[in-house]
Amino acid sequence: MNNNVFRNLSYGVYIVSCKNGEKYTGCTVNSIMQVTSSPATVALSVNRDNYTNSCICEHKKFAISILSEKSNPLSIGTFGFRSGRDFEKFSVIEHKFINDLPVIKDACGYLICEVSEKIETSTHTLFLANVVDGDVLNDETPMTYSYYHKVIRGNTPKNAPSYINE
Ligand SMILES: Cc1cc2nc3c(=O)[nH]c(=O)nc-3n(C[C@H](O)[C@H](O)[C@H](O)COP(=O)(O)O)c2cc1C
Repeated sequence: MNNNVFRNLSYGVYIVSCKNGEKYTGCTVNSIMQVTSSPATVALSVNRDNYTNSCICEHKKFAISILSEKSNPLSIGTFGFRSGRDFEKFSVIEHKFINDLPVIKDACGYLICEVSEKIETSTHTLFLANVVDGDVLNDETPMTYSYYHKVIRGNTPKNAPSYINE
């Protein structure tokens, strides 16, 4: 099989954020899709080894910051290549609070989600969540996963469902 064909699936690039006790954490994801419109439901796939997975399971609520082509790529690296187990990621990334969850300041939009169902695969949890709030923050073009690879020349770590072992 030619694994490069998976690169032709279209995704966005997002920061998922959630509560971590009295603090906040999160990680970079590309695996978000809208599943239904009424009620608005999204699906999100998170590796069970990611700290974010256990925090979402505990608090059952998360925010999605939708990154744009103008968003600072530092967020993608900080949230995608470090773990909230040993680093407070929001201490170095500008954010604002919406519905008691941190949203990346230069994102082009956000969704606030409440987990309704979990489906376990061999490595990842698929969270289904109701979207309870959301807004457009600016008119910038949303970043695609392809733009992240081709223009920003970013990598994807092993825990991402779209990881390709090269
Ligand atoms: C572009 C990009 C996309 C990613 N997509 C996902 C994803 O959809 N699901 C996932 O579990 N991890 C994904 N990751 C990996 C996590 O962001 C990464 O493992 C992170 O360090 C986990 O942090 P945590 O341990 O604090 O949760 C992605 C990383 C990058 C850079």
